[in-house]
Amino acid sequence: MKKAWSGRFKQGTDRKLEQFSESVSYDQRLALYDLRSGLAHIETLCRNRIIGRADAAKIKKGLNRIEGEIREGKFRFRPEREDVHMNIEARLFELIGEAAGKLHTGRSRNDLVVNDERLWLKDQLRGMDGLLRELIGELAKQAEKHLGLIMPGFTHTRAAQPILFSHWLLAYAEMLLRDRERFGEVYQRTDLCPLGSGALAGSNYGLDRTFLAKSLGFKGITQNSLDAVSDRDFLIEFVSAGSILMLHLSRLCEELVWLSRDEFGFFELSESLCTGSSMMPNKKNPDSAELVRGKSGRVFGDLVSLLAMMKGTPLAYNRDFQEDKEAVFDCADTLKSSLEIARLLIAGLRPDREAMLRSCRSGFILATDLADYLVKKGMGFRQAHQAVGRLVRSCEETGKRFEDLSLKEFQAASGNFGKDVLKLLSLEASIKAKSGPGGTAAGEVRKQIKRVKALVKK
Ligand code: ARG
Repeated sequence: MKKAWSGRFKQGTDRKLEQFSESVSYDQRLALYDLRSGLAHIETLCRNRIIGRADAAKIKKGLNRIEGEIREGKFRFRPEREDVHMNIEARLFELIGEAAGKLHTGRSRNDLVVNDERLWLKDQLRGMDGLLRELIGELAKQAEKHLGLIMPGFTHTRAAQPILFSHWLLAYAEMLLRDRERFGEVYQRTDLCPLGSGALAGSNYGLDRTFLAKSLGFKGITQNSLDAVSDRDFLIEFVSAGSILMLHLSRLCEELVWLSRDEFGFFELSESLCTGSSMMPNKKNPDSAELVRGKSGRVFGDLVSLLAMMKGTPLAYNRDFQEDKEAVFDCADTLKSSLEIARLLIAGLRPDREAMLRSCRSGFILATDLADYLVKKGMGFRQAHQAVGRLVRSCEETGKRFEDLSLKEFQAASGNFGKDVLKLLSLEASIKAKSGPGGTAAGEVRKQIKRVKALVKK
C-alpha cells in the first residue's frame, strides 16, 4: 500500500519496521479526538478561505461517517497505516476521494498528535476529579457516621496516642484533596491548543489559531511552535500527580490490610472485596487493597518511562515521543480503577469499636498526657517526661497498667501527681484535650468533616 509520505522514497518500508513503528494498536484511543480536531481544522481552513465550502462539506461528511464507523466498532484500524492519524486520513480517501487530500493543509501530525493528547487528557482529568470527589466524599461520610470511635494512632508502627477513627479517615481525605488541586493545575496547563504549530515552525496559511482553539474548547493557544510540538510536560505532570495519588492510595490500602488483620481487627473489609485461597479454606484475603498497593508501582514506572524517554531529545519533534502514549494510558486506567476500588473499600469498612479499644489498652498510650499533666503542675517537660518514663518502666516490671496504679505509686514517680490524675486517665479525656485546629478532638474533627464535605461539592 502506498504511504502518504512515500513521494520521496524508492523503496518500500521493511515489514519489520512497519511492525516496530506502528502505534495504531494503542493510539486508536485518540480517534474521536482526532476527528474532532479534523472537523475544527476544516472549519478554520474554510473560514480563512484556504479551502472551499464544497470540499469542506465533503470532508466533514466523511469525517462524520468515520466517527459513526468507530462508534459502532466497524472501523478497521490497520497497522500498516502506522498511526491513528494516517488511518483516519486513508479511510477518508476511500470514502470521499481526492478532496480528502485537503484535510492536512497547514497541519502536521506533530501538532495534531499533541492536540489529540491534550483533548484526551482534559477529559481524563475531568473524570478523575469526579472519582476523587466520590472517594473523598465516602471518607467524610464514614468519618461522620463513626464520629466518637477511638483507636490508637501509631508512630513507627507502635501504638502512640489515642485518636478518633474519623480523624484517621480524614487524614486520607486531606491527601486526596491535595491530589485534586494538583490535577486542577495540570488541567490549566493542558488547556492550550497547539494546532497551527505545523511540523515545527508554524504554518504558512495564516490560520486563525484562536478561533481553532475556541472551537475545540481550549482556553488559549500555545506560544512557541517548536516547544508546542515537542512539549510533553503536561503528560509528565499528569503521571507525576498520578504517582502521588497512587502513593496515597497505596498507603491507605497498606493500612487497610494491616489494621484489618486478626491481631488488630480494627475493621472488617467487605467480603465482596476479598478473595479466598485455592488451598486454605480459612482464608479471606484483602487482595483488592493489595492490588491497589501493587499497582502504584506501575504508575511510578510510567513516570520513569516518560522522563527517561524525553531526556536528551533535541528540538523539535522526535519519534521517541510516540512512546508517551502507553505510559499515560496505563496511568489513567490504573488511577481510575484504583480510585473505584478504594472507594468501595472505604464504603464497605465496618469498624470494630471493641477491637480498637482493646488495642488502646496496650502501649501506655496515655503517657504523653500524663507528662503534660505534670507540666501543668509546674514541672519542666523534660523532667515530666523522665518521671512518666520511670512510671512506664515500673509498670512493665510489675505487669501493671497506669489504671492499676494507686496514687501512692504515682507519687513515687513524682510528687507532683495529685488525686486528679486518676480522672485524667481516660482515652476520652486525652482526645478531648487535643482541641486546637487540626487536632483529634471531636469538635475539631466535626468542623473538618463539614469542610471536606463542602469542598467535594465543588
Ligand atoms: N504516531 C506519532 C506519535 O505518536 C504521530 C506523529 C508522527 N510524526 C512524525 N513525524 N512521524 O508521535
